Amino acid sequence: MSSTKFDRTLVLDAVHVTEEAAIASWGMVGRGDEKEADRAAVEAMRKALNELNIDGRIVIGEGERDEAPMLFIGEQLGKGNGPAIDIAVDPLEGTTLTAKAMDNALAVMAWAPKGTLLNAPDTYMDKIAVGPGYPKGVIDLDKSAADNARAIAKAKGVPVNEITACVMDRPRHAEIIASLRAVGVRVHLITDGDVAGVINTTNPDTGIDFYVGQGGAPEGVLACAALKCVGGQFEGRLVFRNADERARAARWGIKDLDRKYDLHEIVQAEAIFCATGVTKGMLLDGVKIGGGYVRTHTLVMDSVSRTVNEVRMQRPI
Ligand code: FBP
Repeated sequence: MSSTKFDRTLVLDAVHVTEEAAIASWGMVGRGDEKEADRAAVEAMRKALNELNIDGRIVIGEGERDEAPMLFIGEQLGKGNGPAIDIAVDPLEGTTLTAKAMDNALAVMAWAPKGTLLNAPDTYMDKIAVGPGYPKGVIDLDKSAADNARAIAKAKGVPVNEITACVMDRPRHAEIIASLRAVGVRVHLITDGDVAGVINTTNPDTGIDFYVGQGGAPEGVLACAALKCVGGQFEGRLVFRNADERARAARWGIKDLDRKYDLHEIVQAEAIFCATGVTKGMLLDGVKIGGGYVRTHTLVMDSVSRTVNEVRMQRPI
């Protein structure tokens, strides 16, 4: 994988992988079984990846080798005869959303040249993200959510009460939510799926200006790949709740546990990002099956051409 130019075939190969994962998990939409929904997506994604002419290695996956039967961190994928790439996957981002047939479940993947994605441990991460078009440094994780909203409003040239923040609806975010509302910011709450939450900042049609809060670190890496493709900004800091999580970080070679990462430290080279809707969302339609066909809707971006493509696929079942 050259870091300066992407082969179009590679981009379309990536699309095929998330399409397959989305189609597989669609069968479990609304069936109340998160694990089975995830398993279906994982199996389909792994099969699709193994059919490709890539020399891939999972750096963000389903967990460490002893926790995950497939798509575990370090797993080699592909036929081994193509570009050497780091693969970050969340085969089903929003297992609960899928099990409950709620909006915004996605199959997600990012690719980058070997050795260029942060090997984030499976811990939480404090995150703040904004879409393209803002001056560098407009967001700062060390400032309050309200101060960030003010900075974004100033840069956008609007009063702060015209700013919308996306936040996960969790008790841990009560203070953030209250402080944003106190200065007049509209808060768009999501129940799950902060990759989608971050991607929503990249498209003005969603009305979401920025994302703030604590979510999974692996999801943070995936979201960064998307933001890198469109020129957005992100800051994140790993959050460790216990000694086990700190030990995980040490295993990944992370020495400075308090480090604040920016987008380009998390995704250190050019990247491809791909997401296929499982259930419908703000940016993507979900999988549709009917009339003998399956249809999918995918967002694919690459950071070299800074192109965002929407791919609608239809094929006979
Ligand atoms: P799953 O796909 O594993 O269900 O994760 C969904 C998710 O909402 C992520 O988008 C988010 O980063 C994380 O869970 C938040 O974790 P928690 O539910 O513990 O707050």
